[in-house]
Amino acid sequence: MAALLELDNLHFSFPGFDTPALRGASLRLEAGQRVALLGRNGAGKSTLLLHANGILRPAAGEVRVAGAPLVYTRRGLLAARRQVGLVFQSPDDQLFSASVAQDISFGPLNLGLDSSEARRRVAAAAELCDVSDLLDRPTHALSGGQKTRVALAGVLAMEPLLILADEVTAGLDPWMRHQVFAIFNRLVAQGTTVLLATHDVAVAQHWADLAVIMDAGQIVVAAPPAQVLATPELRRLLGPSEPWSEAYDTTAQ
Ligand SMILES: Nc1ncnc2c1ncn2[C@@H]1O[C@H](COP(=O)(O)OP(=O)(O)OP(=O)(O)O)[C@@H](O)[C@H]1O
Ligand SMILES: [Mg+2]
Repeated sequence: MAALLELDNLHFSFPGFDTPALRGASLRLEAGQRVALLGRNGAGKSTLLLHANGILRPAAGEVRVAGAPLVYTRRGLLAARRQVGLVFQSPDDQLFSASVAQDISFGPLNLGLDSSEARRRVAAAAELCDVSDLLDRPTHALSGGQKTRVALAGVLAMEPLLILADEVTAGLDPWMRHQVFAIFNRLVAQGTTVLLATHDVAVAQHWADLAVIMDAGQIVVAAPPAQVLATPELRRLLGPSEPWSEAYDTTAQ
């Protein structure tokens, strides 16, 4: 069976910048995986994720979703985004509608769902992300963590097979972080794959079943976390780690 997502030897430089942000990055993800994407600031994590649903187009290499090469037309991109949902590192880049409700319903309506199905999905996603009481608020009048939760709700409402979450847990309070891991775990149990870009090595150790390390625009390793963390050269790439906290429960469903 084809992999859920294949990033095949991607090369990319931002226009006007000489140093490539991706230098032959390859990654293969299957259904039902919990993936931690690690690597230093500037390693290329966000750039890689922006390629996975076609927001950025590689100069060379190929992106395949469920075996089919991504087609960079309106239709092709919509088809890819139906399956691959991306929660941006900065929610301000993601939220653009006047109200929270409009923002969360944008994706489902864009998929061509009828309005009652779209409403059902928006309500369910808002409930999960604990933003039901914010639906009438303008998106600019939210706290950082609230914006992240709204951005996540917008992606969940699309019901994608693969969720790419770019450092979403970093700005959340401990209750919401717990809730987000519970949401992720429930989705993974249903066969969804969740990839979380993070600087928290403990997340890789205690939550992920696949640890991916990027460095200088390349994937250095994609392997079970125990194996990655037991390898001193790889461990060094991640820097010093903080102690694991009991409050940081990544096992809840
Ligand atoms: N909009 C942009 N224009 C030009 N260069 C960029 C832009 N965004 C990122 N870069 C560069 O591309 C490289 C990869 O950046 P990227 O944001 O993918 O890193 P990252 O691994 O997500 O880092 P972080 O942990 O800080 O989020 C870096 O060298 C960065 O300076
Ligand atoms: Mg980033």
